[in-house]
Amino acid sequence: MDTPRIPRIQRALVAVGPGPLGLKPVAVPRSAPDEALVRTSAVALNPSDHRLLDQSTTVGAVSGADLAGTVVRLGCGPDGESHLKVGDRVLGFTFGANPGNPGNGAFSEYVAVVARLCVRLPDAMDFATAASLPMGIFTVGFIFRSLGFDLHPDSLPPPPLSSPTTPSNHKPTTGEFVLVNGGATATGTLTLQMLRLAGYRPIATCSPSTADLARSRGAIATFDYTSPTVRDEIREYTNERLQFAIDCIGTPETMALCYGAIGETGGKYVALEQHPRRLTIRRRDVAHYWVLGWTILGKEAKLAGAYHRPATPEDRSFGEEWAAKMEELLRRKQLEAHPLGLHGGGLPALIACLDQLRKGKVRGKKVVITI
Ligand SMILES: NC(=O)c1ccc[n+]([C@@H]2O[C@H](COP(=O)([O-])OP(=O)(O)OC[C@H]3O[C@@H](n4cnc5c(N)ncnc54)[C@H](OP(=O)(O)O)[C@@H]3O)[C@@H](O)[C@H]2O)c1
Repeated sequence: MDTPRIPRIQRALVAVGPGPLGLKPVAVPRSAPDEALVRTSAVALNPSDHRLLDQSTTVGAVSGADLAGTVVRLGCGPDGESHLKVGDRVLGFTFGANPGNPGNGAFSEYVAVVARLCVRLPDAMDFATAASLPMGIFTVGFIFRSLGFDLHPDSLPPPPLSSPTTPSNHKPTTGEFVLVNGGATATGTLTLQMLRLAGYRPIATCSPSTADLARSRGAIATFDYTSPTVRDEIREYTNERLQFAIDCIGTPETMALCYGAIGETGGKYVALEQHPRRLTIRRRDVAHYWVLGWTILGKEAKLAGAYHRPATPEDRSFGEEWAAKMEELLRRKQLEAHPLGLHGGGLPALIACLDQLRKGKVRGKKVVITI
């Protein structure tokens, strides 16, 4: 394919102060040797997009993490080759609003993405669906690694014909229980599916109104998180044998719920948000992990306080392996995206959508904007 003409200036959503975004002309990012330049067709919103803007503003930095689009330029890695080619349709993840690299973020027309973290799309997958996935699938990867779990797409049986993209409707009676707290979150519905595919018995907390969603993605049982007896209900259901809890919400209350649900022998708890240390020391028989998606890029996350991370090349290597697994999983149609809240209107429409997410008005949907 001929190399497409790439402009030098593009439009992007950048932080114009603590909180608000503005549509501005910015330079198209240079792509490093290990990166692909992707022309975005769709982007998705994550809670981290407004939190970074509100709590850790880098004025002038391009926002956004999740994108899908077409490769328009490739750097040449150290071996002079890439598994990608110009014209490939991919999904990708980047660290937007990044004080260490303010010129690059997903909410723009062109984004530089680490090539080996790009996942090529199956022909049948549209860009909007693809854009909803990057943050979620890589976060599940880190969750799995923390818990010592793995997934081998090559060895999975083909999906059942009746429901090609969801895990088997057959309820597993073996395999370890795993609690997904927030089973109806965008992260939760992907986690549930991958747990089922990996042979675990996932159970979930969610509202009664999203229980069907969590079950359709693989939860074998759901529990209403507002019930005052939810911990006891989970302990009874799992016969005090729950060892693993994944907290997709991350408040002191949800942490207490997860710790309380873990059985007598203790276990492991993975958080997606930071927790007060006074809470983590309550149960010494529960190992506590906190994953932070930015580390997948392998570079220092120059954020303040507890969110700062040193360079982690091992996370980058892990992410590259996980991306290859996700490509295979998508090719085999074994992963279903979260329900989409789809909006046209391009980057300008994103500002109002992000505000809705910030106000907690988005439930059971992943907001995606087509560019
Ligand atoms: N560390 C990382 O790298 C990383 C990566 C991804 C996400 N995260 C964080 O993980 C969290 C979830 O993100 P997301 O995009 O997956 O969420 P999301 O899709 O925006 O979550 C919305 C859902 O949260 C559920 N919810 C709210 N309060 C709950 C509670 N107390 N218990 C159970 N469910 C509850 C609601 O479910 P119902 O409709 O059932 O009430 C709602 O539908 C955010 O804090 C995000 O910043 C962190």
